[in-house]
Amino acid sequence: MHGGRIAHPLNLPAGARVLGPSAVAAVGDIYTDAEGMKQQVVPQEMSEGDIKVAIEEFAQAARNSIEAGFDGIELHSANGYLLEQFLRPNSNQRTDRYGGAIENRARFVLEVTDAAIEAIGKERVGIRLSPYGVFNDMPLYPEMDADYHYLARQLDERGLLYIHLVDHSSMGAPEVPSSTKAMFRKEFKGTLILSGGYDVARAESDLAEGKCDLIAVGRLFLSNPDLVTRWKSGAALNAPDMNTFYLTGPNGYTDYPALSQ
Ligand SMILES: Cc1cc2nc3c(=O)[nH]c(=O)nc-3n(C[C@H](O)[C@H](O)[C@H](O)COP(=O)(O)O)c2cc1C
Repeated sequence: MHGGRIAHPLNLPAGARVLGPSAVAAVGDIYTDAEGMKQQVVPQEMSEGDIKVAIEEFAQAARNSIEAGFDGIELHSANGYLLEQFLRPNSNQRTDRYGGAIENRARFVLEVTDAAIEAIGKERVGIRLSPYGVFNDMPLYPEMDADYHYLARQLDERGLLYIHLVDHSSMGAPEVPSSTKAMFRKEFKGTLILSGGYDVARAESDLAEGKCDLIAVGRLFLSNPDLVTRWKSGAALNAPDMNTFYLTGPNGYTDYPALSQ
C-alpha cells in the first residue's frame, strides 16, 4: 500500500538517538505518518545503562496504563520491534550477557516482563510473540523452535496472564507450524491467544479443539464495528479496505457502516 514512493533518510530531531540491540539496520524501508516511507537507519547499540532505562520505561508505561484505566498491558515482543530484536540472532549480535545463547538473547524480554509484573501484577500482564514472523527483516533461523521453547517455559514460570501468538500467514508471511502452537499450549499453563486470518468458523473450531483459550481478530474488527453481532447472526461482513490501513485521520477507522446504517 506504500509502494512506489521513494524513501529518503529519516529526519531525526536534534539530539534524538535511534537504539537497538546491535548496530544493524533492518533491510527495507519504514512508514512514518509525517513523511511517508523512509530508509531504515543503523541504530546505536544499547549500553547496559540504556537497557536499564528501557526496562524502567516499560514498567512506568505499565503503571501509567493502569492509572489511565486499562485492565492490563500486552508487551509487544513480536513483528520485529525492540523486544523481538533482542530475541533474534540477526538483529542481536551482542557479545555481553544480552547476546549470544538464547538465555542471553531472551534476558531483555524476561527482565521487561519481570519489571512489568512487579509494577502492576502478573494477572495484568500479557505478551505478544511472533515465532516464524519475518516482518521488519526478521529472517527464519535454525534454532527458532528451541529458542521459543525456552521462552515459553520461562514465561510459564513467571505466571503471567497470557501469551498471544501472531500468525501472519494470511498476509503472506510463513505459516506458524501447528507444532509450535501446540508446544506453547503444552508449556504455558496460562491463557493462550491465537490470531491471524480468523473467520468465525475457524475460530469456533480451534476453540472447540482446545488449541487456545481465546482468538484475537484484527482486520475484521476494524471493518465491522458490530463484528460480534454479525458473527452471531451470520450476517454478511464489510470487507477491510487495505487502502485506508495506517492512515492518520478517521478514514478506515470510524467510517465502516454498522448493520443498522
Ligand atoms: C491497520 C493495521 C495496523 C496494525 N498495526 C499493528 C501493530 O502496530 N503492531 C502489531 O503487532 N500488529 C499490527 N497489526 C497486525 C494485527 O495486530 C494482526 O496481527 C493482523 O491484522 C492479523 O490478524 P487478522 O488476520 O485478524 O487481521 C496491524 C494490522 C492492521 C490491519
